[in-house]
Amino acid sequence: MENRSQWGTRLGFLLAAMGSAIGLGNIWRFPATAFENGGGAFFLPYLFALLTAGIPLLILEYTIGHKYRGSAPKSYSKISKGMEWIGWWQVAVSFVISTYYPIIIAWAIMYSYFSFGQQWGSDATGFFVADYLQLADPGTFGSMVPMVLFPLLAVWLIVFFFLGRGVKKGIEVANKIFIPTLVVIFLIIVVRALTLPGALLGLDAFFKPDWSMIADGSVWVAAYGQIFFSLSIAFAIMITYASYLPKKSDITNNAFITGFANSSFELLAGIGVFATLGFLASQSNEAVSEVVAGGVGLAFMVFPEIISQMPMAGLFGFLFFASLVLAGLSSMISISETYVAAVQEKFNVSRGKAVAFGGGLAAVLSLFFANQGGLNLLDTVDRFINSYGVALSGLFQVVAIAWFAKGLKDFQSHADSVSDIKLGLWWRVCLGIITPVVLGYMMLQNLRSELL
Ligand code: PFF
Ligand code: NA
Repeated sequence: MENRSQWGTRLGFLLAAMGSAIGLGNIWRFPATAFENGGGAFFLPYLFALLTAGIPLLILEYTIGHKYRGSAPKSYSKISKGMEWIGWWQVAVSFVISTYYPIIIAWAIMYSYFSFGQQWGSDATGFFVADYLQLADPGTFGSMVPMVLFPLLAVWLIVFFFLGRGVKKGIEVANKIFIPTLVVIFLIIVVRALTLPGALLGLDAFFKPDWSMIADGSVWVAAYGQIFFSLSIAFAIMITYASYLPKKSDITNNAFITGFANSSFELLAGIGVFATLGFLASQSNEAVSEVVAGGVGLAFMVFPEIISQMPMAGLFGFLFFASLVLAGLSSMISISETYVAAVQEKFNVSRGKAVAFGGGLAAVLSLFFANQGGLNLLDTVDRFINSYGVALSGLFQVVAIAWFAKGLKDFQSHADSVSDIKLGLWWRVCLGIITPVVLGYMMLQNLRSELL
């Protein structure tokens, strides 16, 4: 089957891979994670994790996709018949994520609108929980929140539209629009944040190194965890995207570019977020450490409060939430493409049918999170996926390939045959030993914290 879809340009592939990598994890996960795990000192384990696991795994996933030219299940089945299930496991994890990820994008769409006139009023937290999500009286399950439902439908329409148009005309075009726009918007946000009073206070808190924490195993686990999540590794995404690469593509180089671009955006987000938190701290006469937050709390509770205190609040708020929407959409498209490609190949159906069936099912399931009790459900599913889905699927992947398949040398020679940078023993050590040990340890930690 040599009529497989392909990216139009190398830049198109790189933007799509970056679009998947750059997401909410960069904007709301990295800054707080770095702060809680040693601040400036966190950069050491973080860089170590990027070079010993992140980029080596990206190279591996690009190689798998490029060599076998198939979705994750199909690529794994070509490596060895008994490994097809690893691909399906990864696709399943992505599928589950794609049922609640669009909810967060939907909230961000509404909040970019709420920003004008700061409709959350003086109690941003209360507004989010009680007025917007109507969580206060969950009542019976089944009562939809219209202000979540409508933007959710808009998200699905956008996703269906781009996925339906295919790799080059859909996914590539979407990322060529979203990612440059996101970078421009984010640069404006960072410059604005840096010129606010108190910004330096925030940066000081963010970069101040606590070297004593380096000896703590959990800091290293946090660094590896951030890298895996942030680079969209072990979600079947990078295998699928790389399967659309032309034969002549520099795999290793592309992996380094994706890895460093994602980390650069992460650093930029850390600076923007902490400069803004410094502003809040100085306005309310608190220590920066008292206002630090991550995740949903940062975006929908703390940031609205800060935005209200800013000059030109409407514009800043709009740009901030628009950046969440763009970062979220490009990641959402990538997760959904994993099952579109898998279904298309497994059942030999057209792209349109695979989008309608896979995306349709995910869209229906996403309605559960548009309910009044949606936030709690989202929290539970997300924690479960993060604790088990991700670490396990990375572990399956790397152990299967390094220990049970033909071995890493086979993949190394494929990558080397098309890449400028040649891989050495270091790559096999990173994937065959370091990564399995770290992922195994991570898995045990998760289990332990769950059971205790
Ligand atoms: N890599 C994305 C981020 O850092 O935000 C998150 C992500 C996207 C995770 C897609 C998983 C996924 F399937
Ligand atoms: Na990321």
